[in-house]
Parts: sequence; structure tokens; C-alpha cells
Amino acid sequence: MQKLNRRSFLRVAGGVTAGSFLGANVRSLASAQTAPATPVAANDHIQIALIGAGGQGQGDTRTAVQVPGVKLVAVADCYDGRLEHCKELWGNDIFTTRDYREILTRKDIDAVIVATPDHWHKQASVDAMRAGKDVYCEKPMIHLYADGPEMIEAARATRRILQVGSQRVSSVVYAKAKELLAAGAIGKLNLVTAHWDRNSSMGAWNYTVPLDASTESCDWPRFLGTAPQIPFNAEHFFQWRKWKAYGSGVAGDLFVHLFSGTHFITGSHGPTRAMATGGLRFWKDGRDALDVMVGLFDYREGFNLRLCVNFVDGGEESEGLIFTGSEGTMEIAYNTVSIARSPRRKDPGYTTGTFTDAMQKRLLESYRQEYPLTHSSEAPAAEYEKYVAPEGYSDSYDHFSNFFAAVRTRQPVVEDAAFGYRAAGAALLGNLSMDRGAVVGWDPDAMKLA
Ligand SMILES: NC(=O)c1ccc[n+]([C@@H]2O[C@H](COP(=O)([O-])OP(=O)(O)OC[C@H]3O[C@@H](n4cnc5c(N)ncnc54)[C@H](O)[C@@H]3O)[C@@H](O)[C@H]2O)c1
Repeated sequence: MQKLNRRSFLRVAGGVTAGSFLGANVRSLASAQTAPATPVAANDHIQIALIGAGGQGQGDTRTAVQVPGVKLVAVADCYDGRLEHCKELWGNDIFTTRDYREILTRKDIDAVIVATPDHWHKQASVDAMRAGKDVYCEKPMIHLYADGPEMIEAARATRRILQVGSQRVSSVVYAKAKELLAAGAIGKLNLVTAHWDRNSSMGAWNYTVPLDASTESCDWPRFLGTAPQIPFNAEHFFQWRKWKAYGSGVAGDLFVHLFSGTHFITGSHGPTRAMATGGLRFWKDGRDALDVMVGLFDYREGFNLRLCVNFVDGGEESEGLIFTGSEGTMEIAYNTVSIARSPRRKDPGYTTGTFTDAMQKRLLESYRQEYPLTHSSEAPAAEYEKYVAPEGYSDSYDHFSNFFAAVRTRQPVVEDAAFGYRAAGAALLGNLSMDRGAVVGWDPDAMKLA
């Protein structure tokens, strides 16, 4: 690993503009989004459809259609109000349906965004790839472990592009963090600590149920799919994250983001062992997903990952990752990455004050013989560097740009099915460990429970 001195550190930061903030070096990261968009030839336009038009699906689509040469032509969803709103957003010309298979038979659609609840990710993605469509599938890629191999195989057999939607993998902030770690900015990585603290009802997934929610406006059987067949329940429909039948709790919703970020930055395939604990401490509203979860994961690259998520935080909401290395720490917080280093002093120091005066004097004399008082024995100055994404930067835009570039060129995406399965498979180890009350093993290369 290349050792990083101050000069090479600045070189690593090449392509950024230097600034100054409270004595720290703050640099703005370069982003392609500030460059004028290159026009796309008409025959290179991509027509897309959205499957699952809720919060994320609508947000994804808003971003996707900003990428030059991308047009939305159809939307499938199980709640009529969302289909109507999509027409309000994107015009009456878009085709809408409750049944996504009607979209897949259309020849004018090149790619689909799958933003359904997790328990539909595999089926909708596999059906779309078999129908010849490229797929942008939201995270977590899987709901059940069995989904992973099936999706990987479908992408391989159909030669379709499958991008999983953990947008951080395309972020300029995460790219800078990856570059800094590889250049030795924090020395040898020992520990990654990631947390996500929430303090609101929305943060705890209590999303609004529309006033017209009923078996008329909602296609309940289609929403349920392979989930247990229970009578219509509007909370299950609109707040599905709270039940394991449709989502996978904190692990699938949030751990997975922290795993994809960690795997992208470190280049690791994933953990080999996991243990998790937690509980339902605050939101005792009938959900079966936890609101506090802590997971510990072993990586054979020689570091541990510690993840903490809680929806019970009475303090400030926050989210971030800290990479602790032998020579410093690297912190990712929102759209910034910073490095803090307090280099160790060269002499070991001493603790003599409890000994007799005579002993203290003799020890100090012998210490100074071994470590003369020079500048080199003083503690080196701490260093701090911070990199900030440009104002308004969107990693989702970059993630979609990467997807659509792959749709055009047939080159690999940044987050293919194997990457997506390794991140989601690692995240679900947390639930497995909780269920079994035991440490669980995972082979990150073979992508199998061990
Ligand atoms: N990348 C991110 O940062 C991010 C953020 C939020 C959500 N997500 C992911 O996006 C997905 C959707 O989450 P959301 O918050 O938008 O949920 P949501 O409940 O708001 O929307 C899901 C929509 O899917 C529809 N749906 C359900 N079954 C369907 C089917 N068989 N066919 C077509 N439509 C169907 C529902 O009617 C609903 O409108 C989840 O997998 C979630 O993990 C990702």
C-alpha cells in the first residue's frame, strides 16, 4: 500500500478546488453533473416503464427522465391513486396498468425500474429480463436468500443489464473515499462503524394511508403476490416495511445501504460471520420488524463492521460511516468525506509521577538519553481534510446515468446482480442471527450461507 505523506495526499486530491474552512482543508469534489449534457441522437433514445409507483418509484423516475435521451412511457402500480398521479406528473399519454405484465409485452419499452415492495423484486425483475427488458431494481435486491441465485442466473441467461439501486455506489463522495482508502490515507483498515438514527414517525415507516384505500382502489391480491394471503389491510399495503412478509426490516431497508457503501469502498465481497441483536422498543404498533438493531460482522480482509440502526433516538437524527485505520479515520456524513489523522509521536512517552523524586529524575535522564528532546519527539500536528460534493449533487442521477450508459453500450454496470446479492445477503445475515440467536456464517465469494 502506498504510504501517504502530505504532498502525495494533496496529489490524491487532484482535480479538486482547494478551499479553507476553520483552518481545515475543504475541497469541492468534481462532478460530471455540472458539465453541459451531451445531446443524444434520436435513435439512441431509451423508453422506460416504472413498476411500483410509490415514494421511491416516483422519485427514481423523476431522476431517470433527467438523464438525456430517457423517456417514461408506462407505469404499473396496485393503487389507482398512484397511477392517476403519474399521469398528473408525466402526462395523460403514459400507459398505466395494475398488471405489470401488460408493460412487459410492449415492444416500445427498453428498460424498467422495479420499485415495488421487496417481496416483488425478484419476480418483477426476472419477468422483465425474460421479456427482454433491462432492469433497474431497487435495493435490497432480494427478499429471500433464494431470490439471489435466480436473479443472477436470469441476468446471465437473458444477457440483460441489471443494476441494483443502491445509489451510493455511484456517488462521487464514495468514489473519493474508495480512492483515499486505496492510497493509504488512513493506513490499514481495522474497523468500520456505521449508524442510522431516526427520531420521527415517518423515519419509522408509518407512511400515510390515503383516505380512499380499499379493495376498490387497491389491487390487494396483486400486492400480496406470494405473501401470506390475509384479508385487505391498508396498513400492510401502504406501510409494508413494518412486516417481514413484504420487507426484511431494518436489515433489508437500511443495513443494505451501509453494506453496499462498505463493499464499494473496500472492494470486499462481504463478511464471513455475523451476529446481531436488537428489539422492538418504541413502535409497538403491531409491526413484526424491529426498531433497534445492532450487527457485528467479520471480514477476512482483517476488519470488523459494526452497524447500529435505531428509530427511537430522542436526540438528533443522523447517519454516517466511520472507517478507522491505523493512521487515521475517514468519515462519510451526507455528501462529505473527511479524513482526520493524529500521527503518533515517535517516542513512547512515560508515566513516572507516582515514583520517588529520585526515581523520577533517574528515569527522565535515561529516557532523554534514549530519546533526546528534538522536534521529532514532539507530537506531530493533527491533519484534517474534507471533501464536499457540489451543491445539489445527486448520486441517484449518477446511478441512473451509469445504468442508461450500460443499456446503450452493454458494458457492465457499477452494481450488478452479484454485487446486489452480496450486499443484501450480508444484510439479511442480521435477521438470520436474530432468529437463530446465534452467530451465522456466509461465504461471500460463493454467495452462500456457510
Ligand atoms: N434507494 C433508496 O434510497 C431507496 C429509498 C426508498 C425506498 N427504496 C426501495 O424502493 C422500493 C419501494 O419503496 P417505496 O418506499 O417506494 O414503497 P411504496 O409503498 O411507497 O411503493 C411501492 C409501490 O409498489 C406498488 N406495488 C406493490 N406490488 C406491486 C406489483 N405487484 N406490481 C406493481 N406495483 C406494485 C404499490 O402499490 C406501491 O405503490 C423498496 O424496495 C425500497 O426498499 C429505495
